[in-house]
Order: sequence, then C-alpha cells, then structure tokens
Amino acid sequence: MAVNLKGRSFLTLMDFTPAEIRYLLDLAHDLKAKKRLGIKGRSLEGKNIVLLFEKTSTRTRCSFEVAAMDEGAGVTFLDSKSSQMGKKETIADTAKVLGRIYDGIEYRGYEQSVVEELARESGVPVWNGLTDIDHPTQILADLLTIEEHVAKPLSKVKVVFVGDVRNNMAYAWMYGCAKMGMEFAAYGPQELCDGVDPDVLERANAVAAETGAKITVTCDEACLEGADVIYTDIWASMGEEDQIPERVRMLTPFKVTEGLMAKTGNRETIFMHCLPSFHNFDTTMAAEQMKLGYDIREVTEEVFSGKNSVVFDEAENRLHTIKAVVVATLA
Ligand code: CP
Ligand code: NVA
Repeated sequence: MAVNLKGRSFLTLMDFTPAEIRYLLDLAHDLKAKKRLGIKGRSLEGKNIVLLFEKTSTRTRCSFEVAAMDEGAGVTFLDSKSSQMGKKETIADTAKVLGRIYDGIEYRGYEQSVVEELARESGVPVWNGLTDIDHPTQILADLLTIEEHVAKPLSKVKVVFVGDVRNNMAYAWMYGCAKMGMEFAAYGPQELCDGVDPDVLERANAVAAETGAKITVTCDEACLEGADVIYTDIWASMGEEDQIPERVRMLTPFKVTEGLMAKTGNRETIFMHCLPSFHNFDTTMAAEQMKLGYDIREVTEEVFSGKNSVVFDEAENRLHTIKAVVVATLA
C-alpha cells in the first residue's frame, strides 16, 4: 500500500507502522544522496515552520533549520525566554496562534503531553524534537546510520543500550526496535532497571509480538554477547543534573570502555551515541563535576574516538532524517 504521511504529526514512532518508518528511512537515504550531489530541493517553498525549544540543543535545532532552508522553507526559532508559551499563554492558545501563522511546529521540552497538545490544537503537523520520555527523530537517524554501517537488514540487528535504561533515549529505542523487528536490550543497574515504566515496556512488547522483535531490560552483562551496536547516552539527562552524584554511583560500572565493547564477542560492533557526550574533561560541566569528585564520562575517549565509533555520521544523519520527516509530512 502506498505511504502518504502528508499532514501527519511525528510525536513518537509508536504512531507509525513499520512500512511508514521504512518509507521515512528510504526518503532520508535519497535526500542524503541528493545533498551529496549538490541537488537542491524546493519541496517546501512558500512554507514556514517554527521551532520551540524549552531545552537546549545543537543537532536537533540545526537539523530542523538546515532541513527547512535546504528545501526552501522559512524558519523561526523560539526558546523559552523569548515566547509567551506556558508563562503568559496556555499551550492550547499558543498552538492555535502558531497554527494560523506556520505550516509546521517543532517542539522540544519536558512533558510528552505538551507536544501532544500542540498537535491536537494547532491543526498543523507537529514534530517531537525530544521530551522527557521520547526522542523519535534521533532513532530515525540512528536506524539510517545502522543501515550504512551494519551489513544486515534491521530485523537481524541487535542493539544494546547501556546506562540510564529509563531515559528518553532508552524508551525511544524500545519503540524503534519493536517497530522494526529488531533485538534490543537495555543494560543498566538493577535500580534503574526497576525504574523502567512498565507501560512503555508493555506497549513495546505488544508491538514486538507482531514484528518478531525482542525487547529486554537487564542488569546481566550476558546481553552484550553478539551485539551489533553498543549505544549509550549521558547519565543525567537535561533537567536531571541534581541527580549526578547518584547516577555516577550507579552507572560507573556501566561506562562504555574497550573492555565492555570486547564483551560483545564481535570485533565489528559499532559504537553509537546521540550526543552530546562526556568522553573527556574538556567541557565545563565534566570539569566542574570532576572537581566535585564526580567522573561523569559515560564512555572512554578510546571508544568514542575509536575506529568502531560512528557518532559523527550519526549526528550528520539527524539532518537527513529530520528533512525526510518534514518533507514527508508537509510537502
Ligand atoms: N542528539 C541530540 O538531540 O542533540 P541536541 O541535544 O544537540 O539536539
Ligand atoms: N537523554 C538526553 C538526550 C540528549 C539528546 C537528554 O534528554 O538530555
């Protein structure tokens, strides 16, 4: 059946069928090849989009901006200090106003309910640029990157997410792997495994039962065996910085080292990370935390900069996959 995503919002991969996700990945591969050849798109000419960021961003903001500009659309960026949203104006009113002015809205913030309300009330496509519980555009970029680096169909790929197994990236991975029929293990300390939202796991497993995916949450390092991808993320997500001491205590044994990579038994295992990453002390946050006695590096420099790391291909793929989402839903 032909896929048509025009007018749809992109709030979570759970709203999309495997065929629709396949369509977005194929479109992203195509848009990437065209960009490499210098072929300019004009599919969004005459359109305008607005980017709402209540949390900071480098990749997601830049990808939406360049994706829109590459295809001829205008872009407005608003952060939490420069708009009325939430403080003087309700989310619903903001959505209605922006829907009158713009053709599409990107939102990054805290509660998933906000991005859902924007989609409900604005009347235009809304794209989730990260919430506390999901990061669907990141997973599209990650799947594209896996297709470029792992010589297997996605349904044969095993991904192990190491670290904070109850964060937005871990949940987004559960949904992505469930949809694409992949094997996925979230590997972290028992305390964090116990914190995984049972509803997220149940919904991912319901999809997995249909697609043949396998989703597990475990503190047993045996899950590393045979992994094609080792994925990690920072230990304290945006808005959780007060939890750094506790996270360092729990997650230090789960730092991604060459020793951990070797436990896959697969010399070809690639290392992935959504970024930003703490892999040295050259950022103010890593240096300041180290002065307080907390080594917040979730991965060693050797692995991050090693030959199996594909993190910068992955970062570039944010552009191509976000462009695919915007073009597919708006053009
Ligand atoms: N991976 C990611 O979403 O990066 P930014 O926070 O820089 O957008
Ligand atoms: N878990 C991280 C992802 C950043 C892209 C955070 O929410 O800060």
